[in-house]
Amino acid sequence: MKNVGILGFGKYVPEKIMTNADWEKLVETSDEWITSRTGIKERRFVVEGQGTSDLGVEAGKAALKDAGMTPEDVELIILATCSPDYRVQNCSSLIQKKLGAVNAAAFDLEAACSGFIFSLVVGQAMIQAGMYKRILVIAAESISKLIDMQDRNTAILFGDGAAAAVLGEVEEGYGIISSYMGTEGVDDGTLRIKAGGTLYPATVERVLNREIYVEMNGTDVFKFAVKALPHATKEAAKKGNIDLKDIDILFPHQANLRIIDAAAKRLGIPMEKVFINLQKYGNTSAASVGIAMAEALEEGKLKKGDLIALTGFGAGLTYGSLIMRWSK
Ligand code: UT7
Repeated sequence: MKNVGILGFGKYVPEKIMTNADWEKLVETSDEWITSRTGIKERRFVVEGQGTSDLGVEAGKAALKDAGMTPEDVELIILATCSPDYRVQNCSSLIQKKLGAVNAAAFDLEAACSGFIFSLVVGQAMIQAGMYKRILVIAAESISKLIDMQDRNTAILFGDGAAAAVLGEVEEGYGIISSYMGTEGVDDGTLRIKAGGTLYPATVERVLNREIYVEMNGTDVFKFAVKALPHATKEAAKKGNIDLKDIDILFPHQANLRIIDAAAKRLGIPMEKVFINLQKYGNTSAASVGIAMAEALEEGKLKKGDLIALTGFGAGLTYGSLIMRWSK
């Protein structure tokens, strides 16, 4: 089996900062409530005319630069997103065009906040199968365009951003060791956008009823997450014959500090080993784990040889984990 790992990594977040104080002006909330219930202080929002593809392109460029590659070197782009520029066509094709990755095929993978982990798993399998040598995995989201700005229960959680990884063969002893993907299918509004798909097309009435925005049962998602994150991480560790004590850094989906804290406790991983940056970016859905990894790299906290675990959960409900030895 080929050892598949990351040859280049990068992130991009839009410039516009949306603070808790900004939210206080829009809905009945407070910095104190948001901070104590979620840990989030601010998040980034795209501006008018900026789409998910624009974020993905910038993250992709950063990852390619880090890998010392050009867009022409990329053979396949896998984009993890649930907030594409258009309902139809795939957003990865827009990235392929804007990036000038003329030799690459491109497809989107929709697994909500678990999308980056799922995409890395798919990319790894395709390289191991001998189909491709260099795959650009991007996770990019502009959830700010999909939230109901009047719904304090949901809207204050989310932010926009992107991360990207160039996947390829790495030296023996490095790269992806094991992974686990899970799904607990629901169809009850636990976390979804109801209207705008084929079952409930976006009629004027549904738009006026605000059904084109994210709806969520926060309590149900919370309960799911505190079980799913440790379960996925334990399963991935078991498959890789890894002792969780040996994990150097855990990169959890940056949804809520209380969820992360509960998951880390269940895993017996001390919080000093858990990378957290949700205070700056909020929940950037599929992009959150990658943005956290990119920041750990920028801060010199993620180093060659580190054993790391990525773990996420999201709409669907999907969840997953991936363990790798950092190879750069
Ligand atoms: O990628 C996956 C995305 N989703 C998630 O990760 C969501 C997971 N769930 C959560 O993070 C938490 O459930 C929330 C942060 C969404 C909510 O926290 P909670 O501790 O579960 O609060 P709650 O929903 O039980 O609400 C407590 C109170 C309610 O008031 P009442 O009914 O007790 O009078 C809410 O109306 O807090 C109220 N509330 C707010 N108050 C001020 C809800 N949102 C806000 C707000 N500001 N933004």
